[in-house]
Amino acid sequence: MNEIKEIYDCGVIPVAIIERAEDAVPTAEAILSGGVCTMEITFRTYAAQKAIENVSKSCPKMIVGAGTVLSLEQCRQATDAGARFIVSPGLNEKITAWCLDRNIDVFPGCVTPTEIMRAIDMGLNVVKFFPANVYGGLAGMKVLSAPFGSVKFIPTGGIGGENLAEYLRAGFVYAAGGSWLCGKKDIAEGNFDKIARLCGEARKTVMEVRS
Ligand code: 3PG
Repeated sequence: MNEIKEIYDCGVIPVAIIERAEDAVPTAEAILSGGVCTMEITFRTYAAQKAIENVSKSCPKMIVGAGTVLSLEQCRQATDAGARFIVSPGLNEKITAWCLDRNIDVFPGCVTPTEIMRAIDMGLNVVKFFPANVYGGLAGMKVLSAPFGSVKFIPTGGIGGENLAEYLRAGFVYAAGGSWLCGKKDIAEGNFDKIARLCGEARKTVMEVRS
């Protein structure tokens, strides 16, 4: 089992690409002020580890995870910095086992029956589905949900305010992730009011869909 109730409750996971570590806390605060209590900071920049550390130290209400984790080394850096969960674009068994051994929640990307079966075998019941818009989106996950009814997905890739409700309505979607909530450019330009507004709108959608 690798569920984080707060992630389900939030319904969305903003995916942040942060170039300057000092932008991390204002980004996290903007996300929190929009009513979203989780975020994924991706290891696509050199600032990732420091950014996670800053948020983890300064924003106790934020459940910060690390994304785009491609190696055990990054996994260690992320958890040393305070990452509460690990997201990987694909299923890396070393990363997954390392996290499971330490009770760290891990969401590897799984888009084929073989990958999902491996994830189940390793004890997971929530997986990332990336890139959702390329691997069939809702239709793809729906077909996979027939044999894998116990598995829930966190789709990312091509999700935005326009299709969020559609994704969240599906019972097999645990939460939806994406960069539309805190765009790289918005973070770099300090458009924190916009990030707060987008997160607020997303939360409204989550509540409407689940009411
Ligand atoms: C991810 O890492 O999950 C994706 O890059 C997010 O995809 P998006 O930028 O299309 O939201």
